[in-house]
Amino acid sequence: MVENEWMSIQAAKSLKRLLPRIEDRFKVEILAEPAHWQSFSRRLHREWERLFIHLQRVYGWQYDFFFTLEQVLFISAQSWFQRPEDLKRLDAVREADPQWYTSQNVVGGVLYVDLFSDNLAKLHRHIPYFKKLGLTYLHLMPLFAVPHGDNDGGYAVSDYRAVNPDIGTMQELAQLTRELRDEGISLVLDLVFNHTSDEHIWARRAKSGDPDFQAFYHMFFDRQLPDRYQAHLRDIFPTARRGSFTWCEEVRMWVWTTFNSFQWDLNYSNPEVFRAMAEEMLFLANQGVEILRLDAVAFIWKRLGTDCENQPEAHEIIRAFNSLARIAAPALLFKSEAIVHPDEVIKYIHPEECQLSYNPLLMALVWEALATSEVKFISRAMRQRSRIPEGCSWVNYLRCHDDIGWTFDDHEARSINIDPVGHRKFLNRFYTGDYPGSFARGLPFQFNPDNGDLRISGTLASLAGLEQALAEEDPLQIELAVRRINLLRSIMISIGGIPLIYLGDEWGMLNDYTFLSDPAKANDNRWVHRSRRRWEAREDLVDQEMLEWRFFNEMVRLIGLRKAAPAFKNGGMEVIDTGNAHLFGYLRQDDSQRILVVNNFSPQPQSMAPDVLAAFGETEDCTDLVTGQKILTAGPLELDSYRFLWLEIPTNPSKNQ
Ligand code: GLC
Repeated sequence: MVENEWMSIQAAKSLKRLLPRIEDRFKVEILAEPAHWQSFSRRLHREWERLFIHLQRVYGWQYDFFFTLEQVLFISAQSWFQRPEDLKRLDAVREADPQWYTSQNVVGGVLYVDLFSDNLAKLHRHIPYFKKLGLTYLHLMPLFAVPHGDNDGGYAVSDYRAVNPDIGTMQELAQLTRELRDEGISLVLDLVFNHTSDEHIWARRAKSGDPDFQAFYHMFFDRQLPDRYQAHLRDIFPTARRGSFTWCEEVRMWVWTTFNSFQWDLNYSNPEVFRAMAEEMLFLANQGVEILRLDAVAFIWKRLGTDCENQPEAHEIIRAFNSLARIAAPALLFKSEAIVHPDEVIKYIHPEECQLSYNPLLMALVWEALATSEVKFISRAMRQRSRIPEGCSWVNYLRCHDDIGWTFDDHEARSINIDPVGHRKFLNRFYTGDYPGSFARGLPFQFNPDNGDLRISGTLASLAGLEQALAEEDPLQIELAVRRINLLRSIMISIGGIPLIYLGDEWGMLNDYTFLSDPAKANDNRWVHRSRRRWEAREDLVDQEMLEWRFFNEMVRLIGLRKAAPAFKNGGMEVIDTGNAHLFGYLRQDDSQRILVVNNFSPQPQSMAPDVLAAFGETEDCTDLVTGQKILTAGPLELDSYRFLWLEIPTNPSKNQ
């Protein structure tokens, strides 16, 4: 009997045994809401085998696996019965249009509640602003209860069911979620599931000596195992601390802490951890969260002798969470935060794993192209690596709350005569302003003296040259910086996937150095690009010539154009050979429309030979959607410095066949 068949039989057998037990535990609810039970049961039967298989692969060897299955089934039924009516309606809407997020109408924004509007209660006042910008997806950075002082920007969670009291309450969050949804904006929150803070109740119980909770984490009495693991691990925050283990004086044990010492890694080889986190996940789904950003996915499984990143079990676990979501909160989607090698990033993207994923390679390579003025790397990498499974979507961003790292593939670099080590050094020097002719004002983040690794902090505008140009009061440089910023936005909005704006960047927000005077932030220079909202007054400004307005209006305009262009919905993106080392071009199309996007990464005007366009058939009638102008295509296509074109080319089936 083949393994799959055997698994199917076992899955069916387990469900047959488990269902009566679950029906018995929920008999009151089932009697009261038979239709809800039916819809749950339908999805359960559809998803069960998948859930069973993923859990079996990770936990099947444990003597009480059947108990694990029962627990997981129990929490999913319980969560479904607790799911508010409006969310059940949303589930039905999403199930009828399961790939809604691949529409060109979807545009994202991300913000820290406290830095943007002080608290949750005030955030809803900004809904009209979000709508003006065209947002339909709003990611609120972690807003849960956290330790006072340094808490890694909210990524050290002490309670997944409580909002940080400085920001608001869970009720306010649920209320805001409803208001956003009524306005067509989906709420995105993090599921920080690789670790908890050392103040989480699980960690506190572990510290008090409870062995059941010590088993929630990776805890060791001596350095024997930690040292063997450590030999293969990399330091994520090397300037904050070295090594991945922290001494816990209370129990005199070493605890695995990949990130900061106060972030304790959870032990997913313990099925209790899976169950506990699944409960937290479904709780958040029932607050109205539509997309969970799965934080630090790469790190959730440890295997001796490896770097403990991207292990196969990490995928099994996420897929098990995914099938649980399909059963108990079908509207819920996952976005993967895997800022790792591109070969690994792609493995998390699948309708049965994470439907959405950050696109860290595109992010790194737009900056690479801006520094070199050349597009050979971005063209090659996007040609090879953009394709993802049907029904999934990239989330494209130019920078986020984290640093920028050069996570490109070394072989790919070498294949186009780029020395990866030297190139990373060059990029780091360039973006920290330490290279002749550099326009960037980034800060060096987490230099690792052992291997020379370094990443970059900074806002879009400061990295693209605006901060320096303004300081030098140089009108030409200001103009070039504005163009660079708009060029990168053009790509983010048109290349395929969901554009994600770090709010503030739509106004050209500059680096903010005030974090240096806050002891809780001073040691982490990512705060330079997470500044407090200072542009509120500008929403009322009438002087449309102001730089901020130019940025804002351009953003709104490009987003509007995107939404009106069916070719920009998710799907094919074909990188074209523009025949010019500075022009990055790609074709976007659907049945009704073809758009050729051409981006000039050079500070000099560039042209594209007429035969490149001619290859697309009849092109006399091209319109640049950005300016609305007809483009004469008989001669070469001219692009001024850092300019871009969104050329609508008539669809001409006869010539394409
Ligand atoms: C993710 C977050 C980052 C955080 C880390 C640890 O990478 O984006 O901000 O420091 O996880 O939670």
